[in-house]
Amino acid sequence: MTHDAAASADLLALARRIALVAGEHAVEERRRGISVAATKSTPTDIVTAVDRDTEERIRSMILDARPDDGIFGEEEDTHVGSSGLNWVVDPIDGTVNLLYDIPAWSVSIAVVDGPPDPAHWNALAGVVVNPVSGEVFEASLGGGARLGDRELHVNEDVPLNRALVATGFGYAVERRRSQAEVLVHVLPRIRDIRRIGSAALDLGALAAGRLDAYYEIGLNPWDHAAGGLIVREAGGRIGGLRGEAESDRMLVAAAPALFDELTALLEETVV
Ligand code: IPD
Repeated sequence: MTHDAAASADLLALARRIALVAGEHAVEERRRGISVAATKSTPTDIVTAVDRDTEERIRSMILDARPDDGIFGEEEDTHVGSSGLNWVVDPIDGTVNLLYDIPAWSVSIAVVDGPPDPAHWNALAGVVVNPVSGEVFEASLGGGARLGDRELHVNEDVPLNRALVATGFGYAVERRRSQAEVLVHVLPRIRDIRRIGSAALDLGALAAGRLDAYYEIGLNPWDHAAGGLIVREAGGRIGGLRGEAESDRMLVAAAPALFDELTALLEETVV
C-alpha cells in the first residue's frame, strides 16, 4: 500500500490524542493505588489492572475512530482488521517502574502498514508518551521526529568507547543470564550503561540525543514499534545482527557509524 505524508501525519495526530488520554487515565489510576493483577512469563513479569484498563481504553478509542484497522497489543488478543493497517500498542511500557512509582514508564502506540512483525511492516506513525514528565516523543514516516516542538536528531560521530549505551533485560532467568554475559563483554568498551526500564523511552531518549545507542535481546514488537520509527526519523539506524532486521533475537539502534561499531562488538559474543 502507498501512503502519503499527510495520511501518516493524520494517523500520528490520532495516535497522539489516544496516547495522551490513555496516559492521563493511567496516572489517575496509579494515584488511586496499584497492585499486581497477574504474572505472565515468570513471577516478575507482571501485569497490573492499570495495564489492562489502559489497553482497553486505547482499543476502544482506536476502534471508534478506525473500525477497519487491526490492533496488536501487549495485554489482549489480536484484533484482526481489514484495512491492512495495524496499531501496535504497549499500554504501559515500564510496568515495573509504574509499580515502584519510578517516573519512567510510557504509553507507546504505533500504526504500521502490514503485519505486526518488524521484518515485514512499514511503520507510518509512532508516539511515546511519558505521562509523568509530560514528554511526547513522536514521528511520522517522512515527517521527522519531534519531542514536543523540538526536532530530534540522534548524536552523530560518537565513537564506541565514548558511547552512553542503554539496554534492558527480560524476565526469564536463562535469558537474563545470557544478557548479563553480553553486558560483561560490552561494558568495558563503552562510556557507560543505562537501564531505564522502558524500551520505548530508551528509543525516544536515543532520538533526543540523551543516549548514544541502545540494544536489547528479547524485545516484543509493541516495545519498539513506535520508538523505532522515532529513531529512524531522527536519523538513526535500527536492525539486528549480521544484516538481519530487528527482532526478538536482537535490536540495536544508534547513529549509522556507531550502529556498525556496536553490532560488530555484539556479533563477537552473541551467536
Ligand atoms: C519491558 C521494558 C523494559 C525491557 C523489557 C520489556 P514491559 O516492557 O520495555 O525496558 O527491558 O524487555 O519487556 O514489560 O514493562 O511492558
